[in-house]
Amino acid sequence: MWPENVGILAIEVIFPSQYVDQTELETFDGASAGKYTIGLGQSKMGFCSDREDVNSLCLTVVSRILEKHHIKPSEIGRLEVGTETIIDKSKSVKSVLMQLFADHGATDIEGIDTTNACYGGTAALFNSVNWIESSSWDGRLALAVCADIAVYAKGAARPTGGAGAIAMLIGPNAPLVFDRGLRATHMEHAYDFYKPDLSSEYPTVDGKLSIQCYLSALDTCYQLYRKKFQAKYPDTAKVGLENFDALLFHTPFCKLVQKSVARVVFNDYLLTPEDKRSTLYPGLDKFSNSTLASTYFDRDVEKTFMTQFADVFEKKTKKSLLLASQVGNMYTPSVYSGLVSLLVSEQPDSLVGTRIGLFSYGSGLAASMYSISVTKDADCFKKFVSKLDYVLPMLNSREKLSPEEFSQLMEIREKNNHAAPYTPTGSVAVLFPGTYYLKEVDELHRRTYERVPTISNGVH
Ligand code: ACO
Repeated sequence: MWPENVGILAIEVIFPSQYVDQTELETFDGASAGKYTIGLGQSKMGFCSDREDVNSLCLTVVSRILEKHHIKPSEIGRLEVGTETIIDKSKSVKSVLMQLFADHGATDIEGIDTTNACYGGTAALFNSVNWIESSSWDGRLALAVCADIAVYAKGAARPTGGAGAIAMLIGPNAPLVFDRGLRATHMEHAYDFYKPDLSSEYPTVDGKLSIQCYLSALDTCYQLYRKKFQAKYPDTAKVGLENFDALLFHTPFCKLVQKSVARVVFNDYLLTPEDKRSTLYPGLDKFSNSTLASTYFDRDVEKTFMTQFADVFEKKTKKSLLLASQVGNMYTPSVYSGLVSLLVSEQPDSLVGTRIGLFSYGSGLAASMYSISVTKDADCFKKFVSKLDYVLPMLNSREKLSPEEFSQLMEIREKNNHAAPYTPTGSVAVLFPGTYYLKEVDELHRRTYERVPTISNGVH
């Protein structure tokens, strides 16, 4: 018998304990006041000193999810990592995480790392769901982990950085269930954002092209999702945005997501038969001959749809941007930080039985739109959400550093990237309880980690 209602049984997020204020960063960078905060929609940006790397982020988030949910290492049959923060061209982050399992005699665990910019986490998640739904499944649970440190060279892209990690426990009879047959994917070759310089943490970015690629992938995935939805539910009266109670996006910066919601409405508008457009979308007749391809940077289309459908953004998406605006682009965890943000910002009762759409985008490019259904069992859902009660206190207990200090820490990371032997100098005292940190890198580039003691209940 195939397992039913496969989905997310538990979710855990971590983010850096230090941040820089985007208003202060505007002044420091000599950018015009409001460019990062209003123009990009960002409030704060989390960052890691040289004490944390992608391995330590993953060790922290995986330990936390296992401890908090009392999962024994032997209960995990698959562990997948999605990341684009590559510190070793051969050894996977997954193999580093095996330190948490092998000591308990648990080594029969499939899965390794997946990389394609910000999409790797979604690939890890899909692989985990697919395994549970496959003939290879042996009844155990899967863990999909996504983690990245998003840093850019000085310049226009720097304020769109961030960092974080998310772990998701996947199994049957979940409170958040993946809708079968409702995955729409678009992949193609593009040089919008990539990391060809393996000695540097920084990407090569064509900012404008990356936005165009993101929006065009959104168009394609959304239209394909609509088709699949219609095929699955042929009796549905209307197919479109209203099929989602909430719509979450990969969030490089919050303003792009606000524009994306307007873009989805614009797709619905163009897909509405011409004779019905004036009634369903009054006042928009002047766009009836517009096309998707000609409007990626069309201010009139963008502004009109953003203004006229501002309530759609408020209702379906705004709450999912909490972590993105406070921490920044986490890369692979970004869209899942949107899910956590929604879960901690919305009243659980109003999410029970709803459908949540997700759009995942990774430059280069790989993108998918899919949906998950929230269980109708209110008690089960409330219990699931209550495990996230640490998120807001943790967000509010972070330490603010000045842009000067942030910039100095970036220089230290930049200078010592791949240095060996190396002992990090970043503060350990500032890290949250239970955080794994890099102790040292020896002359053979072997990394060792230690952990900040946990507090009374084992987790922060
Ligand atoms: N007050 C208010 N708004 C302002 C101000 C101001 N003083 N100054 C500028 N703005 C607005 C601009 O009008 C613009 O908004 P608009 O596009 O709605 O008109 C916005 O702020 C940004 O200004 P730009 O001049 O367009 O910014 P710039 O080109 O310098 O950089 C960019 C923005 C391209 C996003 C850059 O930060 C970048 O390259 N980031 C990394 C790439 C990225 O995140 N791509 C997204 C998809 S790929 C991925 O996820 C990595």
